Amino acid sequence: MLAVKVPLKGINEVKNILIKINLLNKYYKIKTDGNYGLIAIKTPKNLENLENKINENLKMSKIKDLNKSTVKIENIGMEPFKKEPRSLSEQLKGKLNEDEIKYLKTSFDIIGDLVLLEIPKNLEKHKEVIGNACIDFTNTKSAFMKKSGIKGVIRTREIERIAGEDNSRTIAKEHGVKISLDLKQVYFSPRLATERKRVEKQAKNGEKILDMFTGVGPLPILIAKNKNVEIYGVDINKIAIEYFKENIKINKLNDHIYPIFGDINDVALKFKEKGLKFNRIIMNLPETAYKFLDLSIYLLSDNGILHYYEFSGDYEILINRIKQIAIIYNREIEVLNMRKVKSSSPGRWIMGVDVKIK
Ligand SMILES: C[S@@+](CC[C@H](N)C(=O)[O-])C[C@H]1O[C@@H](n2cnc3c(N)ncnc32)[C@H](O)[C@@H]1O
Repeated sequence: MLAVKVPLKGINEVKNILIKINLLNKYYKIKTDGNYGLIAIKTPKNLENLENKINENLKMSKIKDLNKSTVKIENIGMEPFKKEPRSLSEQLKGKLNEDEIKYLKTSFDIIGDLVLLEIPKNLEKHKEVIGNACIDFTNTKSAFMKKSGIKGVIRTREIERIAGEDNSRTIAKEHGVKISLDLKQVYFSPRLATERKRVEKQAKNGEKILDMFTGVGPLPILIAKNKNVEIYGVDINKIAIEYFKENIKINKLNDHIYPIFGDINDVALKFKEKGLKFNRIIMNLPETAYKFLDLSIYLLSDNGILHYYEFSGDYEILINRIKQIAIIYNREIEVLNMRKVKSSSPGRWIMGVDVKIK
């Protein structure tokens, strides 16, 4: 390919001239050869014209020795810049064929230094290649593939390491807090980070807050980091509560944040016995949260706010459930907000509603 050979001290000047006359080939690296540098150029229509143009511009140069006899055009091999892939599909070009790449699910979750992805059945034979490409693309340490959906009481999924370190422990970072977790043993989704921030922004100093299904405590941690509140997080998964405690430490939080291991049915009874009521309750257990509405409405103080989530295609279902329980307690509701939080499957969403219980 064509390149302009220039004394080293004149490289920048000649490069700028080439940019000015629109002939710099920016896809190739500048190469050195003794006291000279070589700058790749686009193929000009007329080589002689090009030499003249460069020489015209060199006449204005302040650098001595930069002239017609020292700046030459050569035909020489040049090394292209490595083009960074812009997607996992691009990263896998040349490793999978075009048809296989079409089947690839392009979305994945980065959780700390882990990456979690879904691999269609027909691509499973390439799982290691895909895992390694995903690690390179996301600059993570380990790639895990989903082996099941989220299931069971503690809402975890089976996962399999497909590349990198075999370690499912990590520390995720979101909105300035650290969340330590083990992806095999606890529930955690980085896709809820925006929703957590939304709830945190609404929390007010001085509130008493209950997160009924807290997992490793990402929401209490975020709220406690930013607001002066008294906050309780309950979970039936003992390991999740151990991570919650660790998260309190690593985020340097001490006061007024209480991780509680147990079934919310039992813990709520203790709150009742103590006469504890809350200004705000979060119910993030979309599969079965409706079964606990009776408890949460009882535990909410006058004008308390409920953040309620459910898998559904329709907000009305969520609102009616809350209304029906509120009536039993002779309370009125005011819907403050309704939104789709996260897609779970085609046509099915985690819906969220914020409701004031008067
Ligand atoms: C969808 S996860 C939500 C975790 C957390 N809120 C988050 O955003 O990461 C639901 C959590 O509820 C917990 N859980 C399920 N049933 C429960 C119960 N009866 N009492 C307390 N926690 C429960 C599960 O162990 C799980 O960690």
